[in-house]
Amino acid sequence: MAFAKPVVLGNWKMNGLRSEGLALVGALADRAIRLQGTLGVFPPSTLLSAVKARVGNAGLIVGGQDCHDQTSGAYTGSISAPMLVDSGAQAVLVGHSERRHGLGEDDELVGRKVLAAHEAGLIAVLCVGETESEYVSGERDNRLSVQLNAAVPANATAENLLIAYEPVWAIGTGRTPSIDDIAATHGFLRQKLGEYATAGADIAILYGGSVKPSNASEIMATKDVDGVLVGGASLEAESFWSIYTAGGGA
Ligand code: PGA
Repeated sequence: MAFAKPVVLGNWKMNGLRSEGLALVGALADRAIRLQGTLGVFPPSTLLSAVKARVGNAGLIVGGQDCHDQTSGAYTGSISAPMLVDSGAQAVLVGHSERRHGLGEDDELVGRKVLAAHEAGLIAVLCVGETESEYVSGERDNRLSVQLNAAVPANATAENLLIAYEPVWAIGTGRTPSIDDIAATHGFLRQKLGEYATAGADIAILYGGSVKPSNASEIMATKDVDGVLVGGASLEAESFWSIYTAGGGA
């Protein structure tokens, strides 16, 4: 595994004015000088350069929340992968459910974004997950394998790709799949990654969706779970850090 376990990433979503964002990352950076695992934050793009500057020598990954599939052009409001790099990002979230379902991004577009991220030298964190109706109707595995197949480049490496399995119905709802369910799904993702990418066996698979300090250690102790992608609970340094330590990171 290219990233030391646990891999704990915080997706700030559309939260964080400058003073709050810098206070949050400052509290994390001060503790992240010698990390045993991997810790990362994904602030709004308006804060990338300032967050990166505040991180300094601490071992925190800083990433963007999305990138366009083109490098430049007439795409008002969009941000390209090279622009993220230019702002100090090392990574980018791609295909988060709030973009797939809220903004209509389809599997093919998500696949092109992964390629754009890699082209720019970014680590892509590819988010996949089934909706509640797909879960209930037993279509989960099929949906996940279609999402992976469309977006995992065959030559992806354990250094430039991570997968975040986030059931859409678990994001921001306080509900999570059972531990058995998470184990089965991650096992399935591991198998499919092996089919779609040469380095599939080594690519980290994170769980995301209502992770909090109270459920983090059980989730991260589950087979084939290499870490977590955290939304709401990453907005407060104490709770985000305790999720990291619950995974054995400090
Ligand atoms: P949540 O969000 O932890 O608030 O459920 C997770 C995510 O959207 O990445």
